[in-house]
Amino acid sequence: MSYQLTSEVKQFLQELPKCEHHLHLEGTLEPELLFKLAKRNNIEFPQWFPKDIESCNVRYSQFKDLQDFLDHYYIGMSVLITEEDFYDLAIAYFEKAHKDNCHHSEVFFDPQGHLERGIDVKHVVEGFNRACKDANTKFGTTNKLIMCLLRHLPPKDCLDTVKLTAPFFEQGIVHGLGLDSSEVPNHPELFTESYEYLQNKYPHVGFTAHAGEEGDHTYVSKSLDHLNVTRIDHGINSHQNDELMERLAKEEILLSICPLSNVKLQVVEHVGQLPIDKFFEKNIPFSINSDDPAYFGGYILDNYLEVHRHFGFSVEDWGKIAINGIKGSWCDDARKDHLQKQVLDIVKKFQHIEIV
Ligand code: ADE
Ligand code: ZN
Repeated sequence: MSYQLTSEVKQFLQELPKCEHHLHLEGTLEPELLFKLAKRNNIEFPQWFPKDIESCNVRYSQFKDLQDFLDHYYIGMSVLITEEDFYDLAIAYFEKAHKDNCHHSEVFFDPQGHLERGIDVKHVVEGFNRACKDANTKFGTTNKLIMCLLRHLPPKDCLDTVKLTAPFFEQGIVHGLGLDSSEVPNHPELFTESYEYLQNKYPHVGFTAHAGEEGDHTYVSKSLDHLNVTRIDHGINSHQNDELMERLAKEEILLSICPLSNVKLQVVEHVGQLPIDKFFEKNIPFSINSDDPAYFGGYILDNYLEVHRHFGFSVEDWGKIAINGIKGSWCDDARKDHLQKQVLDIVKKFQHIEIV
């Protein structure tokens, strides 16, 4: 089944106020900026890495799976050295998100990918934080940083990273903790100590984890049980288990779904194969996100459009999806109220349009 992206539908989805909850800042490194920074910082890539922008674009369209993508992603981030590099990367994303009417973003970064190259984590966080503040001033968007732990590294390394970066959580500069990288076979329970450390110290911090992307539904339930997360990144394999589906609805766990990413990493052949309709019918809150847009060929609006093409949600249903995204965000109640009003205005403006 395919629905038309009429000019009215496109206009509606463009204007609909959006929140993004699943975006890796290092995954916004477009090939243009990658080669510019490589030159600026005198970085050489391994022999097997694409040599220019064009070959990058070709190679990025052919990832075999998550690991194949990650191998490129970790080499890509090696061009990020100075505070200015981290700033340039993040502000470019915030500008693009603003153009897509994404009013609130909660964005990931991977400190261990930089620490292991000898980069001072202060440069990483300060560059990203300065971009968050400037984006607020320039574009009026609100933005929060979520630090992710790399699950392919030893749990002890993750705990050391959490301890090293604890002052940023204390000061509210970093707002959340997440878990990413190679999901299988790096089970969530290996990282309990890192999560507990921050949960005991800073109850205001938000907790999430990638789960059920390539891993099966047990990765999702174990993240809820052992990491006490209130959000799940991806979570698409949750549909394999009815009990888990009921739990997600009952506990209002937001799934941050990344449709184009799932296609590019060959988790599904096309967006229509994702269980997005099931999640909607079962009242499981979800948001639509871009994950690593520079690698997967689309930012947040592109993901909304592709979901519409396959599922043809009504204007009212899209309003509900947008409001669930706001409710599942980690911004304060005043900001949530403001965003919800903006969504209701747009839903009203476009309520007449026909979905065909
Ligand atoms: N790091 C960046 N993107 C990721 C993804 N989609 N899954 C796991 N780790 C990631
Ligand atoms: Zn991700």
